[in-house]
Order: sequence, then structure tokens, then C-alpha cells
Amino acid sequence: MIMTPVEPKAVRDGIPGLTINRLRPGGKDGPDGIVRDSDQLSGAAWFENFFVGGPDDPWRLAIPDVRMARNQLWPMHWHDCWIAVIVLDGLCMVGDWWMERGDVLITPAKVEYGPLLVGPKGCQLLEIFAQDILSGGGYAPEYRDHPTLEYLQGKKSIAPAAFLPRPDISASNAGRQTTPLKEVPGVLTGHLSGNGRWDLGEASDPDRGVMLETTFAAGTVIPSHRHNDWRGVLVFDGSMRVGDTSLTQDDLLVIEPGTEVPQLVAGSEGVHLLSFAKTAAAEPTIFSLADRDEPRYQTAFATVREAAFE
Ligand SMILES: [Fe+2]
Repeated sequence: MIMTPVEPKAVRDGIPGLTINRLRPGGKDGPDGIVRDSDQLSGAAWFENFFVGGPDDPWRLAIPDVRMARNQLWPMHWHDCWIAVIVLDGLCMVGDWWMERGDVLITPAKVEYGPLLVGPKGCQLLEIFAQDILSGGGYAPEYRDHPTLEYLQGKKSIAPAAFLPRPDISASNAGRQTTPLKEVPGVLTGHLSGNGRWDLGEASDPDRGVMLETTFAAGTVIPSHRHNDWRGVLVFDGSMRVGDTSLTQDDLLVIEPGTEVPQLVAGSEGVHLLSFAKTAAAEPTIFSLADRDEPRYQTAFATVREAAFE
């Protein structure tokens, strides 16, 4: 098992324009312990890719769910788009930061970061690519014979490593093995606290992705609504109902632009959602003007970061 890409499939559907996926079980060990139990050199790595955007779109926001073996080392590298790393299970050191569940790291396009040193019990993380066609990036030439890359991203891999000259902004990393985060240009760190928000691109770029958190208290009723571009919504913690369907931690909604999302009701312990707007256009949550003064919706309207009414 090298890098096992799996075609995601909707596990439940029924509402046109809204797909309900689910991250596979197993956490840092991988589904059925496939990562933990592998004897592969450098340890196994498994991933599944979810897309926020249509197959015909020039680019989509990608949500790879990655499971990596204990102590696996991925050298410093960069991507050609903005990325967000969110640790879901286990530990991973990025540069000089031991990241744990809920920790968030953002890097701008073409900025070298790393290495990734997976924790002693493995790691599951999301590595969000704001534009999947620009996710490739590269590794500096001195990593051409790095054992992890030679084996895991060698001939058998679907995503062979590209070895390229360092982008100018990271030129001073030549000859180093790590990038202390305080020296990485434009890097942002944080932790999922319940209502964070991060731009995945320059704040003035209308095509930037946006990542945002929302926490709805138990029983909050969120009336039907829509967004003007694609949205992915991960249940990070808690539970909720979408129409007649119950969602729990690790369920992932993918919502097409303009889709009328049915009423949501937060579960008995509330729900903590992590959302991914393909572009800034998907950030506002657009409710019906007719619902605006309805008393039972006021908690939801006060909680949603950018509520609009049309
Ligand atoms: Fe990366």
C-alpha cells in the first residue's frame, strides 16, 4: 500500500445539490488499521480526497483526509496554493510545532514549510488545498533521494513528488532541515475554538477560499438557507439533523451553489461545524426574508457569522 486514493462516494443522499459524505473510521490508524499494521518502508500513508466544487469547474477546493504512520517524515515542501492543515487525531510536528486535534496551520502559496514529522502513534489530518489544481508544489532538489519520497512518492504513486528550485521567498531555507514557524513568511497558527475564521488566499482576492467555524448551542434551529458558491461542512464535534437525517462527528456535507439546504437542528450537546467556502462568495448564509423576524430562529441568526436575507 503506497498512497491509497479512494474515490469518495456519497454515503447518503436524497436532497438534490447536497451530498452527505463521511470520513472513514479508524482515525490515525487508518480504516481497518491499514496504516498502523503496514510493514511498508517509511510506514504507510492513506488518503481520501473530497472536493468542494464541480468536476467541470476550473478548480475546486480539495479536502484530503490523510492518515500517516507513526514517526513518518515528510521533508520541507511547498504548494502552489494556500493550504490549511487541521489535525483530527494523533500528533504531527510541522516545523517546530507539535500539532494536536483541533490545531490549525495556514500557509500562503509557494511558501516552504515543514518537515512533517508524524507523532509516535500516527496522525490523521486534513490538508486543505484552496485550489486543487495548484496543490502540487514541490520539494527542493536536495530531497531528490529522500527515503520517504523515493518510496512513497516513487513510480508506484499517483502523485510523484516534483523536485524544483525553491521559490524565492523561501530561498534562505537552503541547507536546512526544518522551518521554525516564526521564520515562515505569512504562516498562521490557531486552534479550533468554536467560531474562528481564516482566509485561504489574499484577503482582497474574491477567489480565495474561506474556512470558518460555527458552534450552535443544543436545540438551535437554523432555518433553510443557501450559499452563492460551493460549501463543504464537516461536523467536527456534536450532532445535528439536516431535514430527516442525523449527522454526527466526521460527517461531511458538500453543498452546491444555490442549493436550498433544509432546516438544521443542533443536537442535544450542540454542534461544532468546520466549513469550507470554495470562494468568498460562499461565506454569507442566505436566509429567507420571511424568516427574519421569526423568534425561534433568532439564536441561529445571532450565531451565523454572515447572515443575509433575501
Ligand atoms: Fe503539504
